[in-house]
Amino acid sequence: MFNHIICRTPCKALVNGITSANIGKPDYQKALEQHNAYIRALQTCNVDITILPPKEDFPDSVFVEDTALCTQFCAIITRPGAESRRQEIQYIEKTIQRFYPDNMEYISAPGTVDAGDIMMVGSHYYIGLSARTNQYGAEQVIALLKKYGLTASIVSLEKVLHLKTGLSYLENNNLLAAGEFIHKPEFSHLNIIEIADNEAYAANCIWVNDRVIMPTGYPNTKEKIATLGYEIIEVDTSEFRKIDGGLSCMSLRF
Ligand code: GLY
Repeated sequence: MFNHIICRTPCKALVNGITSANIGKPDYQKALEQHNAYIRALQTCNVDITILPPKEDFPDSVFVEDTALCTQFCAIITRPGAESRRQEIQYIEKTIQRFYPDNMEYISAPGTVDAGDIMMVGSHYYIGLSARTNQYGAEQVIALLKKYGLTASIVSLEKVLHLKTGLSYLENNNLLAAGEFIHKPEFSHLNIIEIADNEAYAANCIWVNDRVIMPTGYPNTKEKIATLGYEIIEVDTSEFRKIDGGLSCMSLRF
């Protein structure tokens, strides 16, 4: 069960977000409308939502997920792997502190961590080693979580930006997995829902209190999720996809 969500309104500079997608620049107005629809979807999920103001100095700042790991017992302020994103944490820290007054932790150099690389499965956290999250950072996360009785392990990834680009845990043992993650032994104990390459973007969904919010336009994935019995809400994220963003990146859920 999640009680809290934190999001940030996209800034106009979003059009200059980091990207490897090669599918054009985002349309800011459209991105704003899509973000509003995302908030509306979350509003149906019985959670308290904090919406932070846009931060023009940080084109990727709408992707708040990368700046903090919010667990049941502590929050870890990350040290984002992309230089242009590193200072985003200054603008999330105070908000996180409101929810975690006595249990805030930090990643320090030379560690780098984007929390988009961290997937929670119960009290265990999988940490993807990526272009953004390095071994030092991952080891710090493991040690910090251990202090609070939580466990974590490292997963390698090669082909996608973040671990959760290709994986989403939907609770109840169900894991959506695309591409390189489908046959990873680390996840073989879970019920793997395979997402075909032509719908790989839809492997990034979010579970929020028994609803699954997923991107629009992926009918086969939608059918597979529906078969599992979840109520589905679709949200168009086409403008965020243009800067390598997905549904999970746009919120912190805890
Ligand atoms: N554009 C999203 C990111 O690179 O983090």
